[in-house]
Amino acid sequence: MEKGKIIIVEDEESILTMLSEFLSNNGYIVDPFIDSKKALFALKGNEYDVMITDLSMPHIDGLQLINYIQREYLKTLGIVITGYGSLDTAISAMRWGAFDYILKPFKFEEVLTVVESAMYYSKLMKSENIPKGLTGKANLLRRFSENKIIRENTMLRNCLKDKYKFENIIGISFPMQKVFEMIEKVADTNATVLVTGESGVGKELVARAIHYNSSRKDNPLVVVNCGAIPETLLESELFGYEKGAFTGATGTRYGRFELAHGGSMFLDEIGDMSFNLQVKLLRVLQEKTFERVGGTKSISVDVRIIAATNRILDDLVKDGKFREDLYYRLNVVPIQLPPLRERRQDIPLLLNYFLERSNKINDAEIDGCSEAAMTALMDYTYPGNVRELQNLIERVVVLKRKGMIDLEDLPDKIYLAEQQEQGHFEIEKGYDTLVSNFEKSLILQALQETNGVKSKAAQVLSLNRTTLIEKMKRLGID
Ligand SMILES: Nc1ncnc2c1ncn2[C@@H]1O[C@H](COP(=O)(O)OP(=O)(O)OP(=O)(O)O)[C@@H](O)[C@H]1O
Ligand SMILES: [Mg+2]
Repeated sequence: MEKGKIIIVEDEESILTMLSEFLSNNGYIVDPFIDSKKALFALKGNEYDVMITDLSMPHIDGLQLINYIQREYLKTLGIVITGYGSLDTAISAMRWGAFDYILKPFKFEEVLTVVESAMYYSKLMKSENIPKGLTGKANLLRRFSENKIIRENTMLRNCLKDKYKFENIIGISFPMQKVFEMIEKVADTNATVLVTGESGVGKELVARAIHYNSSRKDNPLVVVNCGAIPETLLESELFGYEKGAFTGATGTRYGRFELAHGGSMFLDEIGDMSFNLQVKLLRVLQEKTFERVGGTKSISVDVRIIAATNRILDDLVKDGKFREDLYYRLNVVPIQLPPLRERRQDIPLLLNYFLERSNKINDAEIDGCSEAAMTALMDYTYPGNVRELQNLIERVVVLKRKGMIDLEDLPDKIYLAEQQEQGHFEIEKGYDTLVSNFEKSLILQALQETNGVKSKAAQVLSLNRTTLIEKMKRLGID
């Protein structure tokens, strides 16, 4: 399937060849040019969605090409490739309207992310028929998020029509499209599904989508969090017990497996299940039967299993903490949800979705977010993934209630990091405030990198633990 047309201009032959091959292997039509003059001719006669160009080249350089695209209002989004040394020029290129830049040396996945995002905006731009103006990412983001074009955009709706069957799972990025395809394929089968991914990526959401898009949807979806229930209790929760099975078992009790009969069971945090219970679960998966605790009668059930974990089961298997046979039984259909930082194209959509929802719930009127805030939200790494973004929006909506979200409305760790990234300080705030802000962001970053362990954070910063704690108190860091 053709995903879009790309022109690549790069005077270093090896890079040109590698990039071209990589992008055509990923389904794009690619026109490579080593000579920028020839590339200019090609630009005149062809409709490219995206141009990737080196900056410094003989004859005509990358900036001139970007300039040309802008001047002629070509509907081509420009991406410049540059080394750290010429980052300034890359930033000028963005001011001239380049969509984004890629820093050398680059990883291919990074290129793919930037290209996918450019393709996405290029399609939006064409469908909205935006003829003029700068096409830098910040501009486009603003255009498409503030104007709420994303929601109303018919083209986008068409291309998402099928995908929105799971209307509460938002995602336009390539990895999420793959996830939707997978859900669609497996939902109405009895296959066991294993959903993996970091905390807050949407594993439970996917599990629910699978159940409610299957023919079991009118029967129960029973959710069990294997990490939250102590081992002994978990066993009787899952399998039930007979009267007298243990002290306090005064009557027979059905387990969750029986309650889920005809429906699905969502086993969350499966990586936390004890070895002993893993054996019993394996048996249910293989034979569809089990006995209640303290019972001898075999009970048969028809239950579809969907399991999830944020741990790497492969590693648990290697360490002997998770049974290999159970792993294979569960991993019949794996669905891996990538962290949000690896699918940043989803951020504007998620932002709009959460804004709308929070506005409604809180009877607030936040219209969108400023360019600076959007850039900061796009740049942030989201260790807590979608849940973190959702909570963040909720908080801003509750506190602000009206108007646009500004950089300053965002949590310190995002706001301060962005200011430093931009090398821009609001000097009118005064020396002391700015220095405190800087200190604060250093400490927040160290804490984030050490999972909040103060002694480690102090070590990273070469500070005494007590000094760190004093500073945290003074700066108001929890
Ligand atoms: N793609 C998405 N679209 C809309 N909302 C999402 C999406 N992904 C996650 N969310 C929301 O983010 C929150 C976290 O999602 P969910 O509980 O499914 O994550 P999880 O992967 O199960 O996390 P954990 O590992 O911490 O249990 C939920 O409120 C969910 O509705
Ligand atoms: Mg969960």
